[in-house]
Amino acid sequence: MAAPDPAVSGEPIAQWFYELAREQDGFEVELVDLAKVNLPLFNEPQNPIRQQYVHEHTKRWAQIVARADALVFVIPEYNHSMNAAMKNAIDYLHIEWRYKPFGLVCYGGGAKGLRAAQALKPSLVALKMPFAGELGIGLSTSPVVDGVFKGDEQLDTSAKALLDELARLTPLFQSRRT
Ligand SMILES: Cc1cc2nc3c(=O)[nH]c(=O)nc-3n(C[C@H](O)[C@H](O)[C@H](O)COP(=O)(O)O)c2cc1C
Repeated sequence: MAAPDPAVSGEPIAQWFYELAREQDGFEVELVDLAKVNLPLFNEPQNPIRQQYVHEHTKRWAQIVARADALVFVIPEYNHSMNAAMKNAIDYLHIEWRYKPFGLVCYGGGAKGLRAAQALKPSLVALKMPFAGELGIGLSTSPVVDGVFKGDEQLDTSAKALLDELARLTPLFQSRRT
């Protein structure tokens, strides 16, 4: 018997947000699954600020992030913080992140993943990424059912507000990037 897929929440929540983002005027949206990007623990010999990547996995990841004008990270809360895969993926790059507005969709138990969001924000701000807002999902009251996350009126409204803010910020920073 195959082992169950442990990623039970991230993909359905990302799919829910992706569908709402596709309805937002002005954005062409790409959904990226870190499980499929499949980065090993950071193993570049140089500081990423130099962009002298030696590994194919880093070059592929750099291309994905480079083509984005803005980002929304969908993250779980693990032990009152962000998950390791997210931080590892961020640490791989530097210039590709810079001046790109970001939003956070976080999820977890009673704290709705917000401690993960709080932990991740300083790293993204250090990369000079402007913060557009966050949205927390409590899985006990808004669960994933049969692999599908449906949200509700309040979450949909918050998601659209986050997307509006991202749409407002993004053009302000596009011309600042080099
Ligand atoms: C290692 C681990 C630590 C966790 N720690 C917390 C936590 O501190 N707070 C919380 O609200 N939920 C915590 N959870 C629950 C996760 O947020 C929840 O299981 C979520 O669905 C995990 O996301 P994933 O299914 O996309 O991996 C933890 C789960 C795991 C596996």
